[in-house]
Amino acid sequence: MSVPFESIRQPLDPGHALPIYRQLYERFKDAITRGALRPGERVPPVRGLAGELGVARGTVELAYQLLVSEGYLLPRGPAGTVVSPQLSGRTQAPPLVEIDPATVERSVPGVIAHGPTIRPFQLGLPGLDAFPRALWSRLCARRLRQQSAPMLAYPEPCGYGPLREAVAGYLGISRGIVCDPAQVFICAGYQGALDLISRTLLEPGQRFWHEDPGYPRGRELLRRAGGVPVPVAVDGDGLRVEDGIALAPDASFALVTPSQQSPTGVALGLPRRLALLDWAASSGAWIVEDDYDSEYRYAGFPLPALKSLDRAGRVLYTGTFSKVLFPALRLGYLVVPAELVEAFVRSQQVFPSGCAELLQATLCDFMQEGHFARHLKRTRSLYAQRRQWLREALEDRLGGHLRIAPTPGGLHLIGAVEGDDLAIAHRAHADGMGLQALNAWCVENRREPALMLSFTNVVDQQTAARWAERVAGAMER
Ligand SMILES: Cc1ncc(COP(=O)(O)O)c(C=O)c1O
Repeated sequence: MSVPFESIRQPLDPGHALPIYRQLYERFKDAITRGALRPGERVPPVRGLAGELGVARGTVELAYQLLVSEGYLLPRGPAGTVVSPQLSGRTQAPPLVEIDPATVERSVPGVIAHGPTIRPFQLGLPGLDAFPRALWSRLCARRLRQQSAPMLAYPEPCGYGPLREAVAGYLGISRGIVCDPAQVFICAGYQGALDLISRTLLEPGQRFWHEDPGYPRGRELLRRAGGVPVPVAVDGDGLRVEDGIALAPDASFALVTPSQQSPTGVALGLPRRLALLDWAASSGAWIVEDDYDSEYRYAGFPLPALKSLDRAGRVLYTGTFSKVLFPALRLGYLVVPAELVEAFVRSQQVFPSGCAELLQATLCDFMQEGHFARHLKRTRSLYAQRRQWLREALEDRLGGHLRIAPTPGGLHLIGAVEGDDLAIAHRAHADGMGLQALNAWCVENRREPALMLSFTNVVDQQTAARWAERVAGAMER
């Protein structure tokens, strides 16, 4: 018998967490995927191998059956069982490559690889220490205990009914959006909402306006779904709607962040809001309103959503729990005009959101029992404090070398710098920081160099000072 079988003949471990047949199965699978057992090679007969390993024949048979059912082995009757010849050329696993976050960032500019770490200034994260994890796990455990057999079946494709109602109620009170729960679709965050929109409405080759600078992930998602991006400049009043009309009057979609433009933080002015709605109504385009963090405004009240002005039913409104709760939850929502409900329901039936109902039900309790409103209130004042700590620390350490823009809300500061913001951000990333360059979010309309620095995880003044020192290091090098 050939040498590769030596590893398979090593004694099996009865105390192992995996049953014996499973250990044997794993050994074969490993040897086949490593290429140590080659396609066409004959495997030892059941009786012989069972004898050598000192296990029952049934144990080896079970492992072989599993390998056959998954296509690793092929029984050939009296000729014995062989490694499936169809695996030819496919068994060698590719070498493991260590991925440099900077490579990911270059491939989709402005998008840094996510992961379970919090890097200094990391954009897009809420204050993760502030989330009431103990309360959340209690609510989740309660839901788990209540789970009856029918609740183990497939979840409702458009989202958990009571959560859709809770979201409709919340939007009515806080965002001025009057909608029926049937118009609310629960999605895996903004990404999930865009995915659903593109599967339902987008036809390949259709053009879409996007803000420039703007959220790279949204643009990239629609582009990969077949849309053709049209970058439209942003100024102090938000998206330059008149430029969009001049550039691509026939575009089918406009992606906008009207409450707090991402990333500059400016609000879309009222005349522009009305011009955008008029254009969409007359051209038949759809406006995708990305209302990702409008809850966080530190002076005055959050601005009403664009959707609240939408008389012609052209706005697809999206919100996410990634900023107000935590992004690993992967829950958000999409509100569609009444006339599109049927088309979206059909789409969701084919491509359900994949959001776990247990988490949706937990979130529903969190909202209905008043924890959501309390968490928002608490994090609003917490972030106002953290923002101030960071602003002061940066001003103390860097003075006029980092001029912070007076944005009224959001989860990051923008500081104008001298020199090349992309190069500074590159050095900062190499040093483990998660800040970003404003120009990494620009496509055609380059801006004065600036850095975007999140303050949500600045837990105290000492942290603010330490982080300011680190960004100074990246700027001075
Ligand atoms: C502009 C913008 N929209 C939406 C999102 C949220 O995306 P998701 O709900 O997929 O986490 C983000 C997250 O960083 C964002 O920056």
